[in-house]
Amino acid sequence: MSESIREILARPSAGGGVTIRGWLRTARHSKEVSFLEVSDGSCFSGIQVVAGPECHGFEETVRALGTGCAVEASGELVESPGSGQSFEIRASSVALVGGVGEDYPLQKKRHSLEFLRTVAHLRPRTNTLGAVLRVRNATARAIHDFFQQRGFIQIHSPIITLSDSEGAGDLFRVSTLDVENPPRDEEGRVDFRQDFFAAPAFLTVSGQLEAEIAALALSKVYTFGPTFRAEDSNTSRHLAEFWMVEPELAFCDLDGLGELAEAFLKQVFQRVREACPDDLEFFNKRIDDTVLATIAHVIEQPFERLRYSEAIEILEKCDRQFEFPVRWGLDLQSEHERFLSEEYFRRPVVVTHYPKAIKAFYMYLNDDEETVGALDVLVPKVGEIIGGSQREHRLEVLRRRIAELGLEEDRYWWYLDLRRHGSVPHAGFGLGFERLVQFMTGMANIRDVIPFPRVPGNAEF
Ligand code: 4AD
Ligand code: MG
Repeated sequence: MSESIREILARPSAGGGVTIRGWLRTARHSKEVSFLEVSDGSCFSGIQVVAGPECHGFEETVRALGTGCAVEASGELVESPGSGQSFEIRASSVALVGGVGEDYPLQKKRHSLEFLRTVAHLRPRTNTLGAVLRVRNATARAIHDFFQQRGFIQIHSPIITLSDSEGAGDLFRVSTLDVENPPRDEEGRVDFRQDFFAAPAFLTVSGQLEAEIAALALSKVYTFGPTFRAEDSNTSRHLAEFWMVEPELAFCDLDGLGELAEAFLKQVFQRVREACPDDLEFFNKRIDDTVLATIAHVIEQPFERLRYSEAIEILEKCDRQFEFPVRWGLDLQSEHERFLSEEYFRRPVVVTHYPKAIKAFYMYLNDDEETVGALDVLVPKVGEIIGGSQREHRLEVLRRRIAELGLEEDRYWWYLDLRRHGSVPHAGFGLGFERLVQFMTGMANIRDVIPFPRVPGNAEF
């Protein structure tokens, strides 16, 4: 494998031969010399290749090269006289590996992010998407490092499941039945006993319930996998397929969970800042000029902690006109979440003790019988980035909650059974991976921080 541009630019000094392979961002041709800006995606910057008449392939190949062409170039690594870059390559040969059609859509001018979504097969070659993908990668690595260093064991929770772990009903069905002509039972309903899994099956909305199983044996675990929600939300923060990180800890309560969430976000931000300085610099310059300050702020400042009731009080008393009503018992909308973290506290906010009626069945019922041990982390711009809770580990209370919410107890039999055998207080949360990347990069739309977004009406690529 040849040296990447990232490795070449990290060399301590110029001199010596190099070979690079990549795609042309730009080509400038003058009479005697051509300047080729080549990127291989290994880092934010490309490297400049300077080719003159002495370069092998100059007349036949180099003169005809344009943006998007794939090339292999060899030559000597020299100090760059121009500003901005330490090294460039004085080419001894340049070969065309793959040309581009005349209709290559990525020209030097800046394209809108909306347009780039229509060419998702080519957009990783742009500065913005390249930077997003590298930050995504660094973030995923930082997440694994955080948990691995603390002795968490990664669990691979299933993607196909029979249970609705959020009890919210936003499920994608998985079926091999003939949709035109499904088998019917005696009452004329579709007979899922004849389906592939002999029962109604779905794509998972969360790995939590399985993570709980593992935590009640291995104590500290986490999942990191794709999750699916068939909610018809056409917003800049919702995807139908997104990645979730879900730590789950036995012998842990709500306070312990809040501490974990804060330590986790701080360390991940720190690591990504170390790993991707150039990419973050770019986001700060071109996408959102608060990115670097926000990252520093998250790392350095303590998070704010408050209860849902206090949040409602603040929202009621502030002089802001919200689109959605604010009242104890109603869920916080994204505008409320953003107001709290972006304007009122100006930092990440950990909100706990939500009313039971607006949260999932599995959350620990507090002594007031009105609120549950829920925990959401709200951040500027994005709103809710983490949702979690202490879990209800008391069998009778859990059965009561399932009944109250009209859920079918049968579907949760093993979840209930766990409460009969060695049940302990435990807690966990789910972090929306794309929302984290959005927050870190300042990208306004979640569709631009995942390579191939799945949203209502679109699953192309
Ligand atoms: O708050 P949620 O629904 O929590 C759960 O699913 C729990 N079972 C997690 C747990 O306790 N283990 O989702 C968790 C996070 C949200 O805070 C949000 O960041 C993200 O997942 N999320 C989405 N991200 C993108 N698109 C969507 N449609 C999302 N729905 C939730
Ligand atoms: Mg939530």
